[in-house]
Amino acid sequence: MENSLENVVLGTIKARRSVRAYSPKKVEEEKIQAILEAAVFAPSARNGQPWFFTVIENEGLLEEMNEATKSIMLSSGDEFLESRARQENFHVFHHAKTVILVSGKEDHPSAPVDCAAATENMLLAAKSLGVASCWIGFAGLLFSSPKGEAYRKLLQIPEGYRPLWAVALGYALNYPGEVPPRNRNVVAWVR
Ligand SMILES: Cc1cc2nc3c(=O)[nH]c(=O)nc-3n(C[C@H](O)[C@H](O)[C@H](O)COP(=O)(O)O)c2cc1C
Repeated sequence: MENSLENVVLGTIKARRSVRAYSPKKVEEEKIQAILEAAVFAPSARNGQPWFFTVIENEGLLEEMNEATKSIMLSSGDEFLESRARQENFHVFHHAKTVILVSGKEDHPSAPVDCAAATENMLLAAKSLGVASCWIGFAGLLFSSPKGEAYRKLLQIPEGYRPLWAVALGYALNYPGEVPPRNRNVVAWVR
């Protein structure tokens, strides 16, 4: 699957990493706007665009959501979630100052797929602007819990939409040097 073609887009795709340590510097609003613009330019089935984005920059609220999510993880009965939440210094959002919640339209058959396309666009747009990011699947747990509806209202997420996950944004304290290994044995070529 290796090839010799190179350009800025391919370079950005390969250089993007999940960043889990951020500096205190906030991401500038114009960069966040550009990242959101990239999200809405994602493809979606039948151009349904079944998504809604919520930019959260309120530190107190992010801390509260972190604690609430951690306690859900700790009592989930899921070994993976519990061991993650027990890790010292675990923080759902990795202390990022900006978090974009990605909500999908409920009962829309392709919402998770379409929202995933929009999310990847955001990660790549962020990387292209020098902004570090991490896809935060754990962020969805709070919204499928009994506390979810109260948080949906607090965050003014429209009725009929539910947060699926989030994207943490910030400036990297240390950019991961190592690329998590990729399995390339996943392609069949039928000619
Ligand atoms: C659906 C999904 C959920 C994820 N959830 C989390 C998460 O909650 N926390 C986290 O630190 N990373 C999360 N990640 C990031 C993955 O761990 C990461 O993409 C993977 O290890 C490959 O590393 P890379 O992104 O640096 O290439 C998630 C990625 C995806 C696609």
